[in-house]
Amino acid sequence: MAYLYIKGAMMLHFKSNSASFHSARPFSYQTLSLLVMLMAALLLLGGCSSSSHTEQPAAADSSDTSMSGHSINMDHSAHMGTTTAAPEGSVTAKPADITTEQQTLTGKEITLTARKAHLEIEKGKYLPVWTFNGSVPGPQIEVTQGDTVTVHLKNELDVPVSIHFHGVVLPVAMDGVPGVTQDAVQPGGTFTYTFKAVHAGTYWYHSHQDSLNQIGKGLYGTFIVKNKNAESADVDRTLVLDEWNDPNTHAPDREANTAALSSNMGMYNIYTINGRSGDSIEPVRTHPGEQVRLRFVNAGNMTQLLYINQPAYRVVSSDGEDINDPQMLRHGLLRIAPGERYDVEFRAGQPGVQVIGTVGDSDFARSMRIPVVTETDSDTWTDQQINDQISSQQSKLTTEIVSGWPELDLTRYGKPASSTFNLQQSYDRDYQMTLNMGVSDGQTMYTINDQAYPKADNMTVKTGDTIKITMTNKSVNEDHPMHLHGHIFQVLSKNGQPVSGSPLWKDTLNVRPGETYTVALLADNPGIWMFHCHELHHASMGMMIDLVYEDYTSAYKPDPHANNISE
Ligand code: C2O
Ligand code: CU
Repeated sequence: MAYLYIKGAMMLHFKSNSASFHSARPFSYQTLSLLVMLMAALLLLGGCSSSSHTEQPAAADSSDTSMSGHSINMDHSAHMGTTTAAPEGSVTAKPADITTEQQTLTGKEITLTARKAHLEIEKGKYLPVWTFNGSVPGPQIEVTQGDTVTVHLKNELDVPVSIHFHGVVLPVAMDGVPGVTQDAVQPGGTFTYTFKAVHAGTYWYHSHQDSLNQIGKGLYGTFIVKNKNAESADVDRTLVLDEWNDPNTHAPDREANTAALSSNMGMYNIYTINGRSGDSIEPVRTHPGEQVRLRFVNAGNMTQLLYINQPAYRVVSSDGEDINDPQMLRHGLLRIAPGERYDVEFRAGQPGVQVIGTVGDSDFARSMRIPVVTETDSDTWTDQQINDQISSQQSKLTTEIVSGWPELDLTRYGKPASSTFNLQQSYDRDYQMTLNMGVSDGQTMYTINDQAYPKADNMTVKTGDTIKITMTNKSVNEDHPMHLHGHIFQVLSKNGQPVSGSPLWKDTLNVRPGETYTVALLADNPGIWMFHCHELHHASMGMMIDLVYEDYTSAYKPDPHANNISE
């Protein structure tokens, strides 16, 4: 009953969304800027050659999606009553509200304040952003496994927000999904999240209100749960990948990374690590012999293919879950999809500079790179020396060269060990999810089993059920990184091949075009949980369902005036 009520509210919401868009003042700046963006997208696609790296989208397909992506985007800002007509661009004069350095917050009680600022995304270029505590990414929260964490959210923006702790297994009332688990936190309002950090690992948090728009503007940070018993690395850095759209910068030219085109937004034109691009990215600095742990988090909407120019490294965990006995790798590729996390470890060798970067020939792709600098106390590298080293390495590590490096396949990595689920056992529930694109009511939508949220069947379970889910991606050229809230699931097979390496647990699984995965989980956390693609254009255009426990009744009643936007 309670659930029907929620679903009804969300359906209404969805409708009022599109109504407000279509009835928007016909010749407003919004409409105009939408047209300008569409034209730019078309020009861009026209100028796009086939000279590129790993992904080759069909032009017609991507032109379709890039248009719908933008219309949804504008739809949201129309609905949210954003007063700016045209998209805000960067400025070159230093604004007063410049972002601060990222803080590390430890301790059991933490406050995150959502507020506006300007990010110096490149030297002398300031982009308007939304932040937690004045920085992008927001503070890194560090706690110890077993701690009970309390996070107070204060909203100083003029739109409602929320916080979802991505990948963290917590009670549903703390899940931060407006309209499903709580009302969005209104301007001037507060909300307190408390939960026990059960699993150690690398996680992140972000607003789940209007998330395509709000995460896109910078409302995210990292959440690290340290294992009490594990030795910590000498150097431990978190590296958050993201991409941005600065309408003041010319659109991507013919060299553009085609991944951008295939992910709906041909218009991302700045790629960042920890909110910085190119030479502004702070290097990882280490000494010979030190143990280094790099925690990669993808907060963007594009899958990034990283090349790791290290002679000996291991991928020790994914989505916060350790990999059993991971083999040593050398000079390889690591694909990281939206929402995923990977922890990489290596021991620093002789003094020198080595680059980790993203595969692609565009200036944007080449500016997403990080120097790993090994130096001694008596012999350090200057910024200039580091940058020179990096450019000379980047000119040698062409796309052609790095594309030949082996790419990690997690389903064959590490050593087998006994684990919870297998393909032979019987399951209480067996679900299929076909991921695709389709047209519904004349609009391009992203679908699960031909349905677009909120007009989609729930996945129903009851507490204690074992569940098997098979996901197939029928899209021609788009990744669907599928993320389930409140649970982790075990990956059992990929394209019919059983996982042959370490038991593999994920909360975000990138299903690439043509791929099929079978996963299993235990229904041990009663609630209503989102299951959606983390390419947030896809989620906001329908690629989402609810995992609903039949034996759970929510105490939460959505406020119809809270402007809840759950995706
Ligand atoms: Cu990282 Cu439902 O989200
Ligand atoms: Cu998707």
